[in-house]
Amino acid sequence: MNRLVSYGAAAMTVVLLGAASPVWSEAAPKGDSANGRKVYLADGCWQCHGRVGQGGLMTGAAPVLAQTKLPFAAFARQVRTPVNDMPPYPAALLPDKDLADIFAFLQALPGRRPVKDFPMLND
Ligand code: HEC
Repeated sequence: MNRLVSYGAAAMTVVLLGAASPVWSEAAPKGDSANGRKVYLADGCWQCHGRVGQGGLMTGAAPVLAQTKLPFAAFARQVRTPVNDMPPYPAALLPDKDLADIFAFLQALPGRRPVKDFPMLND
């Protein structure tokens, strides 16, 4: 019986902790890619990552973002608290909604074209 009670308490704690942390859920929020494009250009993401998320150089290599395979939670963590050279974008500068819109914009980009689409490379 006691065992059952402590399992119950443990489960309750998990539920409460889950409810207390407003961390991003697994699924990406629905974003507006047209607004995402505007914010991406206005906030300067393009200066390092390229206008169509093709990647680029600043102080070091800035990764390709078009069709990022990062789950939304990892994407948001990187933008809020970058691992290395990228400047952080706190919510005061980049609201959560705009962040979700940028993610939608990046997902909608065509990304890399295959080599066969470039006649010059297929001679
Ligand atoms: C000054 C250059 C710079 C700017 C501006 C910049 N980034 Fe970055 N970004 C980087 C660099 C460099 C990295 C590599 C990791 C690091 O240094 O933190 C990176 C990494 C990332 C990653 C991780 C990609 C991966 O596949 O690992 C994401 C996502 C990202 N940036 C999104 C953004 C967004 C969205 C914006 C605009 C709100 C932005 N970045 C603005 C330089 C920049």
